[in-house]
Amino acid sequence: MGSPIDHAATDAFGADITIFDTTLRDGEQSPGISLDAREKVEIAEQLARLHVDVIEAGFSAASPGDFDAVKAVAEQVGNATRGAESDAESDREPPVIAALARAMESDIEAAAKSLAPARRHRIHTFLSTSDIHRKYMLKATNDEILDQASRAVELARSYTDDVEFSPQDATRTDFEFLVDIVAAAVEAGATTVNIPDTVGYALPFDFGQWIKQLHERIPAITERGVVVSVHCHNDLGLAVANSLEAVRMGARQVEVAVNGIGERAGNCSLEEVVMAIRTRKDLLGADHRVNTPELTRTSRMVSSLTGYGVQKNKAVVGENAFAHESGIHQHGVLADRLTYEIMKSEDVGVDGSQIVLGKHSGRHAFRKAVDELGLDVTDEQFQSAFRRFKDVADAKGGLVDTSEVRAIIMSETTTAPPDDALVLESFEVTTGSDQPPKASVTIRMTATGDTVTGTGTGDGPVNAACEAVRDAVGIDGVTLTGFHVAAVGSGIEAIGQVAVTVEVSDGGTFTGRAATTDIVGASVQAYVDALNRSQRITQRTEEFRP
Ligand code: KIV
Ligand code: ZN
Repeated sequence: MGSPIDHAATDAFGADITIFDTTLRDGEQSPGISLDAREKVEIAEQLARLHVDVIEAGFSAASPGDFDAVKAVAEQVGNATRGAESDAESDREPPVIAALARAMESDIEAAAKSLAPARRHRIHTFLSTSDIHRKYMLKATNDEILDQASRAVELARSYTDDVEFSPQDATRTDFEFLVDIVAAAVEAGATTVNIPDTVGYALPFDFGQWIKQLHERIPAITERGVVVSVHCHNDLGLAVANSLEAVRMGARQVEVAVNGIGERAGNCSLEEVVMAIRTRKDLLGADHRVNTPELTRTSRMVSSLTGYGVQKNKAVVGENAFAHESGIHQHGVLADRLTYEIMKSEDVGVDGSQIVLGKHSGRHAFRKAVDELGLDVTDEQFQSAFRRFKDVADAKGGLVDTSEVRAIIMSETTTAPPDDALVLESFEVTTGSDQPPKASVTIRMTATGDTVTGTGTGDGPVNAACEAVRDAVGIDGVTLTGFHVAAVGSGIEAIGQVAVTVEVSDGGTFTGRAATTDIVGASVQAYVDALNRSQRITQRTEEFRP
């Protein structure tokens, strides 16, 4: 049985807000994002370094891949303190690992099984409660919904002492019915009741009043120490504002996603709400335990693994969040940065110094740069990254900066492992003004050791190269649905970080990534990476036995 968080506990800061991260569940539901188990573990390890309290690792019953990923996170992150950099760190409890389950026996059982390896785990069960969901999705009466919710919570409690219940679409639910269902969930043993603004419909003053009234109308919430949580979507751009108002009115858990990713316009952004609470704890009278200097690194890792870029002017983690352009601002900041800054850049982990390496920099200088950025690499990854750094430095003929070193390491640590089915050996693309681009590729199939070649034409060089890959490996039913290139670093030879998303006809969307100074090369590599990912997940499906 998992033991719940001691919600009443406060630390030296009086930290009493539980940060529940749903990047790996709701965040991963964003169109085009598909993380495999290895990537989920990598992000979860970073979330553990960030000291979030709860990691929602996935929706175990959604697919065999989800089940495996939740289990991997429970085993590898929920069971050990990862990334401990000091003695104090190594004493830390691992985060609680949570999994989502519809209010159904089979879902709750799958969640419980996948979570079992975690030292502390939470089953998060949910059921829709608004009239519109009830009428079109559930086709059930209010009494039936009350009964189903109570039975689900009771069943979940038979597996763990830490159970969260969410009445989905709460903010479009009749308030009197919301009171009834929250009271029923508390009565059945829920230790956290989460109020989701599923469609991002709430306005702060109204939402805050609902949170306050739920506490007033259901005394058992306070008597039993049940935590009221909020889960706000950003359809009107109000997710952070609604979450803060809920905290002001008594909510003690906030559900968030890194970079605000999630269904449609996304979820409440972790970094924004965390820094708002920390910066204005004078007004909110509340705090959390988040290790904020890890925020920027977390944001970049999630952006790189999901292929979802971070806008330059994004609050807290955007490239410009601490940049000052106007002369008046620069003058003020040079005199005293408090003139135009309300947070210290080092408190959110923005690199204080820019690391700059040149094409003559050796292994030692590169190692120092990697260490200063706090990036974990194996020896093998380091050697390979160093070779790529040399290629980049040669191609640029100039300097390689912090963001480029990070991109090289990230692409080394996040591209597919050596057991991949397809390895891109070489490619060539020819273009001319009067004929369509032509490409040829050579690919090694690791299963047989054979090398195959293919050719293709297309309306652009990337398209032609992807055609050539398809021709070489003879695949059907794969459609390229997303292509995203971001320039990292400066100058005409900046590194291109490419994310390619493919949809496979028998189900699933997979994103592959690569980064080099040659955009066409990075695109083909990313395309092959996406194909390898689809292959790995298909294999796992065949072996799945929950
Ligand atoms: O937005 C929502 O309602 C959800 C629930 C499952 C909590 O994600
Ligand atoms: Zn949601």
